[in-house]
Amino acid sequence: MELRSNSKVGEIATASMASIRVLEDFGIDYCWGGEQSITEACRSAGVDPQGLLQDIGDTMLSTAPGTRDWKAEPLAALICHIVSVHHEYLRLELPRIQKRLAVVYATYRQRDASTLAPLPEIVFLLKGELEVHMHKEERMLFPAIEESERAARGANRPPFPFGRFANPINIMLAEHESAGASLDRIRKITRNYAIPSHACHTYRALFKDFRSLERDLHMHIHLENNILFPRALALQP
Ligand SMILES: [Fe+2]
Ligand SMILES: [Fe+2]
Repeated sequence: MELRSNSKVGEIATASMASIRVLEDFGIDYCWGGEQSITEACRSAGVDPQGLLQDIGDTMLSTAPGTRDWKAEPLAALICHIVSVHHEYLRLELPRIQKRLAVVYATYRQRDASTLAPLPEIVFLLKGELEVHMHKEERMLFPAIEESERAARGANRPPFPFGRFANPINIMLAEHESAGASLDRIRKITRNYAIPSHACHTYRALFKDFRSLERDLHMHIHLENNILFPRALALQP
């Protein structure tokens, strides 16, 4: 989408999930004020339209998929990528999703009861599970993998002083399945994120959030299940 000062705020928010984060940071009302142009919305919020457009454009570019070959990169680099991109995404987006869901639930819980009633609990539990999961990876498993990779490169390889990876990895795999099951439930309950015709911009953004969360978690879990964990296990023949 081409960004212009006369573009409507709601159209930008609908076209790009990444832009919503920037709009929120600038205090732009993209929900009830979605019909405003960028110029009008910036005047109301007292911010510079060129700065806003620049940030939205930069955010869109920075979220483009990477092209690194993670099967060949050092494991430490892959771990750094997973933590800085995917763990950071979850830490940033899950609280936002929870807040946005609370707004949508408060507004539409009677009209869309069958869709919205189960969602707060599912998101609450998913957020809690993933926070603990990421903590375990960052504090225990990932440092052990990095240490083991460093040791494997050394002249005098120690006999795996960091313990075997198989058990903690099996626990991580089970937790990935649990997170995937929660996302499947969300997709099913929302009928593949079908947006009701009466939905406001916040409602629409929430369903886009769910879709983005699913896309990011799929990539995240792919990097761990299919690349990081098998390569870590190969360090301990
Ligand atoms: Fe992870
Ligand atoms: Fe994980």
